[in-house]
Amino acid sequence: MSRRRILVTSALPYANGHIHIGHLVEYIQTDIWVRFQKLRGHRTIYICADDTHGTAIMIRARQEGRSEEEVIADMQRAHVRDFSGFDIAFDHYGSTHSEANRRVCEQIWKALNGAGLVFEKDVTQLYDPVEGVFLADRFVKGTCPRCGATDQYGDSCEKCGETYTAADLIDPVSTLSGARPEVRTAPHKFVDIEKLHDFLEEWTQSGDHLQPEIANYLKGHFLKEPLRPWDVSRPAPYFGFEIPDFPGHYWYVWFDAPIGYIGSTLEWCEKTGEDFDRWWRDPQTEIHHFIGKDITYFHTLFWPAMLKVSGFTLPRKIHIHGFLTVDHQKMSKRRGTFILASTYLKHLDPAYLRYYYATKLTPRVDDLDLGLKEFVQRVNSDLVGKVVNLASRAARFVQGERLSAQYPDDGGLFAHAAGLAEEIAELYERCDYSAAMREIMLLADNANRFVEERQPWVIAKDSQRSDELRDVCSVALNLFRQLAIFLAPVLPRLAQQTAELLHAPIERWEQAQTPLTGTPVGRFEHMMKRVQLSQVQAMIEDSKAPESEATTGRGGETNADPSAATADEAATDGSQDSGEWLEKEPLAETCTFEDFMKVDLRVARVVAAEDVTESNKLLRLTLSLGGDRRLNVFAGIKGVYDPEQLVGRLVICCANLAPRKMRFGVSEGMVLAAGPGGKDIYLLYPDDGAQPGQRVH
Ligand code: 2FM
Ligand code: ZN
Repeated sequence: MSRRRILVTSALPYANGHIHIGHLVEYIQTDIWVRFQKLRGHRTIYICADDTHGTAIMIRARQEGRSEEEVIADMQRAHVRDFSGFDIAFDHYGSTHSEANRRVCEQIWKALNGAGLVFEKDVTQLYDPVEGVFLADRFVKGTCPRCGATDQYGDSCEKCGETYTAADLIDPVSTLSGARPEVRTAPHKFVDIEKLHDFLEEWTQSGDHLQPEIANYLKGHFLKEPLRPWDVSRPAPYFGFEIPDFPGHYWYVWFDAPIGYIGSTLEWCEKTGEDFDRWWRDPQTEIHHFIGKDITYFHTLFWPAMLKVSGFTLPRKIHIHGFLTVDHQKMSKRRGTFILASTYLKHLDPAYLRYYYATKLTPRVDDLDLGLKEFVQRVNSDLVGKVVNLASRAARFVQGERLSAQYPDDGGLFAHAAGLAEEIAELYERCDYSAAMREIMLLADNANRFVEERQPWVIAKDSQRSDELRDVCSVALNLFRQLAIFLAPVLPRLAQQTAELLHAPIERWEQAQTPLTGTPVGRFEHMMKRVQLSQVQAMIEDSKAPESEATTGRGGETNADPSAATADEAATDGSQDSGEWLEKEPLAETCTFEDFMKVDLRVARVVAAEDVTESNKLLRLTLSLGGDRRLNVFAGIKGVYDPEQLVGRLVICCANLAPRKMRFGVSEGMVLAAGPGGKDIYLLYPDDGAQPGQRVH
């Protein structure tokens, strides 16, 4: 396998707010990917920075009576502290307000001008005469020109959904000073990205750089018509970089923010002596951006256009994730689910969240839910119950001694897991961490079964059996170490603790291929505690604020360009999902409510599950509807779901299907699943709280 050169970024967080658990989805997702690539031996760097410019910072600085530089320096310290608390390990964390970034902005600006893409046009905007600033739409409130609702923001009406510009509002008021804004006109610079339409069409639709749902969304929304020119300047006063050939005007924050990826790399190169051109001008270097879906437009259209024109390397891939919900609702200050990174760290171990998010992250753009009870249950059952427990049950019998000099017979368990290493690696590579975690936990189940069968605690009572005890513990500890290697991108601290326990650093993915033999075992230190629901509740209490509901995607607060509002809405309304499934299987004929009610769907618990050996598709499931009511059901999910993984789980079943006699027995119902079948099948299960026997309407 050749060594790749990979530059990875996460979106640059705004310097006007603290990091919260919504942001952390992305930083954890990226950090896992970076750690994975490093573990595979690829030359990888993780670059980020604070996004510091714009009106919001300027206003905050005024309100606090400090300079903008002081405000952003403080916030940068807080961000760096929060990230490091979650083991997010950047190779460099810069700022868009740096000399390096200014230099790159100037270069790109020159290239855009040289290519004849920049033109000037007058723009009319609202101006706050008291504060002396032009007002972004979210700094204006007034009455909706359509429905008359009062107290609406300057871009759209929350009551009737109408979109407009702030100048259309009736009785507009500046939210900064309360003054009535004036209408003022100023010249702005625009980039005519329509001239790059063909290039953008090809780049976005090539199938390599974007997830299919994103490529479809761009094609259906923006690329089907001429691309609107992009307004990249703002008149003074503005906190940012002054445009060299346009004195008194500044680059708009969204111009220099993505350039911050390059500016921050340049700083890192200057610090380390690395060759900048290798990282940003050599097509061999793979550039991977991780971002949230709300900023798709900037990264998939403007950004490639800017890079193309100025001769920088285009991204190999833009990995786009959805938003976080907590218990299926938007994060909310009132409910205490708007949880800051620093608040989380006061109550809980960062490893819990890293693992939990990993179990939820897929290569798709879907939103991701943090179910608080599920969080507690997953962490306790997987991390504590299956992984750490394995080490604690074995290490205490051999601490201070050595592992067996030869790796003992383990019935093929170590070799089996080693054989899955490439498959697991492929899942990490594709950002399908959820599937990777499932695979790894199945291996943990195997290892635990071994320990339960061999019962080292019983062997330990018999002094005649010390060799056997050493062998059993050597197997268990090696299986544990293998899991720690597979989990190292997600759980770096566990990898470190494992390295200390077994006196063997975890540095390479290949180490999962070879068991340790004859090496010393250190003192077993407690690795991870069970999480208590009360700790989670305390964190929620600590996060409760009396403020009005705050909702958020990535940042909560945004400097976004008005055009992003379009991208944002469209990205969450489902239209980015491909229509292919409806085409493959058109909707069935309309049925009446009475027809529907004939089908009795129930919540059921899987109480037993086993392989039907004579079939390569079927598992036999015993479902409980509560009490002693059982159903025997055959489900075509073999090879996709592990029978053991299903036991205990709630599913939805059709409970009044006429029994069907099959070769292997009678099937008395049907378990509901989506997908076309084969490996592409997804069981449906109810939200936490549902009870077996409840009817599904
Ligand atoms: O949406 C945001 O939080 C922006 N601060 C992200 C900028 S990403 C990049 F372009 F810098
Ligand atoms: Zn309205």
